[in-house]
Amino acid sequence: MCGIVGYVGQEQASPILLDGLRRLEYRGYDSAGVAVYDGQGGIRVVKAKGRLQVLSDLTQEGTALPGTIGLGHTRWATHGEPSDVNSHPHMSQRGKFAVVHNGIIENYMELREFLENQGVTFASQTDTEVVAQLLEYCYNGDLMATVQKVLHRIRGAYALGILCRDQPDVLVAVRKDSPLILGLGEGFNLLASDVTALIRYTRDVVYMDDNEIALLSTAGVQVFDAYLQPVDKEPQRVDWEISAAEKGGYEHFMFKEIMEQPKAFRDTVFPRIVNNRVVLEDLSLTPEEVRDIDHIVIIACGSSYHVGMVSKYILEKLLRKPVEVALASEFRYSDPFVTERTLCIVISQSGETIDTLAAMREAKRLGAKVLAIVNVVGSTIAREADHVLYTWAGPEIAVATTKAYSTQLAVMYLVGLYFADLMGRIDSNTYDAIVCELLRIPSKMESILENKEHIQYFASIYFNHDSIFFIGRNIDYAIGLEGSLKLKEISYIHSEAYAAGELKHGTISLVEDGTLVVALASYGQLFEKLMSNVVEVKSRGADVLGLTTQRLKESMEKTVDATMAVPDTHPMLLPSLDVIPMQLFAYYVALMRGCDIDKPRNLAKSVTVE
Ligand code: G6P
Repeated sequence: MCGIVGYVGQEQASPILLDGLRRLEYRGYDSAGVAVYDGQGGIRVVKAKGRLQVLSDLTQEGTALPGTIGLGHTRWATHGEPSDVNSHPHMSQRGKFAVVHNGIIENYMELREFLENQGVTFASQTDTEVVAQLLEYCYNGDLMATVQKVLHRIRGAYALGILCRDQPDVLVAVRKDSPLILGLGEGFNLLASDVTALIRYTRDVVYMDDNEIALLSTAGVQVFDAYLQPVDKEPQRVDWEISAAEKGGYEHFMFKEIMEQPKAFRDTVFPRIVNNRVVLEDLSLTPEEVRDIDHIVIIACGSSYHVGMVSKYILEKLLRKPVEVALASEFRYSDPFVTERTLCIVISQSGETIDTLAAMREAKRLGAKVLAIVNVVGSTIAREADHVLYTWAGPEIAVATTKAYSTQLAVMYLVGLYFADLMGRIDSNTYDAIVCELLRIPSKMESILENKEHIQYFASIYFNHDSIFFIGRNIDYAIGLEGSLKLKEISYIHSEAYAAGELKHGTISLVEDGTLVVALASYGQLFEKLMSNVVEVKSRGADVLGLTTQRLKESMEKTVDATMAVPDTHPMLLPSLDVIPMQLFAYYVALMRGCDIDKPRNLAKSVTVE
């Protein structure tokens, strides 16, 4: 989604803004722009549809746009097509204000109509422009009071960066339901929608909360509440290395992140296993509260939802308690049934997905306890949840998630074991066997990654298919959902995942000569059932690529066209191994089709609008 960066200091702003925008590229965007105060009474704006390189060329890497204070933005179109004029920053008609915005101004139509009736002429079709025009319309010489007045008139979700020609030594930052972070420097200060844009310049950050307004100057940063009363904010230190957000010799972030999975899994799991026991020191739920849980609802979007789908099978088996999985965008509008004995587990890599955040707030309002599984420290979901367990995956840059998925799953295993033990639902032999295998997962992941050429070879055979089905039963079906999503996200091949038993109820009519079916069959007890489905699709002309375990490989090879096999492990942990060939397959297929793997069309890393 859109990215914001702002700088005030003594250096030239444009190159810093462009560098910040480059680090936000991964979020997904279709146009970009910068606004800089020119030191002579004017704000100059350069913006352009397309990649950041276009903007870079237009501004000669920023050198053609001198000035020491400014704003930058990468836009992911919502209101108004991607175009030069709809790109941010937006200016008010007399050039007094430049505004960058993430989110949606819901009442922009009525505000636009009002302003047009007052003689204001709009340049773009965006909702954002009303903010710039309204600021100019309301301006009375007092910048903060004007911002406050405008905030009373606008509805929706927004992170705003504001530059005013009449007070060119300050930037104003505003946050409501869309993340905004302040970066604190010596003689300079920054604002950004994402820590990755700041980390090269400072590690000291302040996370803004909803309805706060910040004033940034060279000398410092002040934060105010909605009534313009000063708020004391504790700066936080970001401790990850800048190299973690760089490609480090890999062609794509996605590939780098696939390869990082053994380490990410280790970092997430190993410190939480002490003397072969799961120890969740960072979990603030008491043993009594855990025992009191009678129902679990997992809430998430996208791949995080797919982790929830896998976890349902695992938690129900371990805990013998009902576990529901809800899409966050559905949960919040479904009059959900939760009580004080419900535990809502919210899963989010970014911790900022707007639907997940809204669903979490709804669950809390209804009295449920909320445990968040989040990757980004200090993100809104992490801060608002009752309890948090972090996935220590490090920054994930590629839009298509891989290592975040794996670490979310890892945390779910830990939660499952920990709860099962407290609830008295697991015998010590089973517990010990799972913990023992958990510690072996990273090296088994490594062995799959060492043989990646095998999967590359299959991708080279099948990359030209137009339609691919993933079929499986139970957990295999849940893994198929993720395999299918990975593939369609980055290769643009039409793909669907089906519970294999459902094929006969409609989908098999789409199977014809040359359709590719990826059949997942990792579980012995369902193997034969799944193989019957394989025979059904083969007899209708499908090519079948199988995914199974070493133990079942030979049996599968007899029926399918090609087989991928992962090492054997405890059945509960198989998803962590199965997902890797699925990720690699999607990656290599997309590579062979020449797709822009790290920045797939129309997609965003962090979805901060509904
Ligand atoms: C976007 C990303 C997905 C991600 C989903 C949920 O669609 O492209 O990779 O799974 O959002 O994001 P979250 O940050 O809440 O896990």
